[in-house]
Amino acid sequence: MLMILEVKNVSFDYPDKNILKDVSFGIEKGDFLCILGSNGTGKSTLLKLILNILKLRRGEIFINGIPSHKYKNRGSISYVSQKATGFNQDFPATVYEVVSAGLYPSCGFMRFFGKREKLKVYKALKKVGIYNLRNRLVGRLSGGQQQRVFIAKAIVSEPDIIILDEPTVGVDVNAADSICCLLGDLNLQGYTIIMVTHDLSSVIHHSNKILMLTENEPCIMYDTEDFLKQNISAYYHHHREV
Ligand SMILES: Nc1ncnc2c1ncn2[C@@H]1O[C@H](COP(=O)(O)OP(=O)(O)OP(=O)(O)O)[C@@H](O)[C@H]1O
Ligand SMILES: [Mg+2]
Repeated sequence: MLMILEVKNVSFDYPDKNILKDVSFGIEKGDFLCILGSNGTGKSTLLKLILNILKLRRGEIFINGIPSHKYKNRGSISYVSQKATGFNQDFPATVYEVVSAGLYPSCGFMRFFGKREKLKVYKALKKVGIYNLRNRLVGRLSGGQQQRVFIAKAIVSEPDIIILDEPTVGVDVNAADSICCLLGDLNLQGYTIIMVTHDLSSVIHHSNKILMLTENEPCIMYDTEDFLKQNISAYYHHHREV
């Protein structure tokens, strides 16, 4: 089976710091991958390399078999960045407008924004359960609601892969659970999901693969089931200590 994403021997350094060392893993269409690791192990950096936001220097990344730097179909990978939320409360955009922006990579800034696009935005809003908020200013919503806005923005272009960097940070346990359930549902609908999180407990029931990044050690990929059997107590122990 063709891997939807393949990362091969990727290493990455910032000028005064080497972080990723010989990282290799692959996922298939329909996978829900969770990336775990302590602060500073390079999780966000790895996502930015996959997204071609940072230039890859060592190793290779393939998306649908195509090297990532040649991959043109940007609408087919969506990204919700770390700390996407936290708008000023007067930020002058409505939920509808923010979600519409998710179509710009495929249809251009307002150029071809017609009835079809409007319906796509409504569909995405309904899928994540915020259609009723569509005319509200995003800055006036709760962190959990804002995160849903970003998820709607991420799915509006109907991507193959959704990449999220710590989408449940700063929201309460119930909101975090419901965001993870939403991502689980989207995954069951066929979206491939890659998510960085520290919030293992709310996502563990939805992911099927786990990539563990550890400083100065090779990364390890697990099936979630095996990870649970082997590691969960060790993981929680470690994170209580820090
Ligand atoms: N642009 C940059 N220039 C120099 N160093 C950077 C840059 N961006 C990140 N770093 C450093 O590289 C390391 C990895 O950063 P990265 O953001 O990928 O970690 P992370 O695993 O996502 O951490 P966190 O869990 O805190 O989000 C950190 O030590 C960070 O300080
Ligand atoms: Mg990060």
